[in-house]
Amino acid sequence: MKVLVTGGAGFIGVNLIEMLLEKTDWEVHVLDNFTTSDNGMLERVIGDSMRVKVFNGDIREMDDIIAAMEGCTYVVSLAAQSGVLPSVEDPIYDMELNVKGVINILSSAVDLGVKKVVHASSNALLGEGKLPLNEERIPQPMAPYGASKLAGEGYLSAWAASYGLNTVALRFSSVYGPKSINKGSAIAKFIKQIMDGDQVEIWGDGSQTRDLVYVKDIANAIYLSLVTDLPNRYEVIHIGTGEEISIEEVFDLIYQKFLDRGYEPKPALHTDWKPGEIRKNWSSIEKARKVLGFEPQDSFDENIEKTIEWFIENYEGKQ
Ligand SMILES: NC(=O)c1ccc[n+]([C@@H]2O[C@H](COP(=O)([O-])OP(=O)(O)OC[C@H]3O[C@@H](n4cnc5c(N)ncnc54)[C@H](O)[C@@H]3O)[C@@H](O)[C@H]2O)c1
Repeated sequence: MKVLVTGGAGFIGVNLIEMLLEKTDWEVHVLDNFTTSDNGMLERVIGDSMRVKVFNGDIREMDDIIAAMEGCTYVVSLAAQSGVLPSVEDPIYDMELNVKGVINILSSAVDLGVKKVVHASSNALLGEGKLPLNEERIPQPMAPYGASKLAGEGYLSAWAASYGLNTVALRFSSVYGPKSINKGSAIAKFIKQIMDGDQVEIWGDGSQTRDLVYVKDIANAIYLSLVTDLPNRYEVIHIGTGEEISIEEVFDLIYQKFLDRGYEPKPALHTDWKPGEIRKNWSSIEKARKVLGFEPQDSFDENIEKTIEWFIENYEGKQ
């Protein structure tokens, strides 16, 4: 069995590949151009394994995709412009990766007889709808990133209906965990700022909430989506914890854990709210439970412990 992971050098990709090497005997192809992940994480995860082949290429180039996808049964599509603020600054670039790049992947998958494409979508595409977010709500993206993820889902649905390709859009909530060294999302940013001796910045008053899901649970959800026979040729499924937590609470927990380890973190600095950011956001995971048998494993506290320990061992910081 051979699987292509686009964006396999990124945060979720390296955690997924680590899990696949532990849990399966599959061969893994990685297609990545290392724009946001030139940090050695992929090499470390691969170690001396002969089961991973890395293709340095771009999802905007059909030839690069075809070279990496040849012979693969499954495709996990993670390569993307993955930030909300960068999408507000450069929506065209965001569209080229998250829309045209996805179409390129889907077209190649049909041409090469791929069995299933599992694509990383986001619950951000729903905007500030009624909570909890679920598969029934009407999308109302608040940033170009949400719009491009919504378009991606549209093409997955279309490729399933027009070309018979099995596709799954997994709408991840906010992901955190080890190996997120390249990320600017709240938990990775807070830990890096504390370890750098900087003041942590919280946008707004910190009452905004997120459904924070551990990256190993995300890797498991991707694996389950690949191997499970699903009711429909195109499925959209929310993956999170089904719980919300405020950013202020997250900061307090991380702050306390660093205090306990002898660090002297500075109090948080509250800065202006960022346009395009969502205030309240958490996902129902009832469908994921039902169709995938998905269940988040450990508690938030345990997962934050593991994340901090990983950063202390692996991130040097500025100090
Ligand atoms: N991390 C989260 O909280 C989260 C939440 C919801 C959805 N997602 C989605 O999950 C996926 C993975 O996210 P991540 O956090 O690992 O992001 P990431 O930025 O760490 O990884 C993305 C990878 O794609 C690669 N890439 C970028 N442009 C490329 C191109 N043109 N061709 C080939 N490779 C390219 C990057 O070099 C990087 O390795 C993305 O699609 C993202 O939108 C992430």
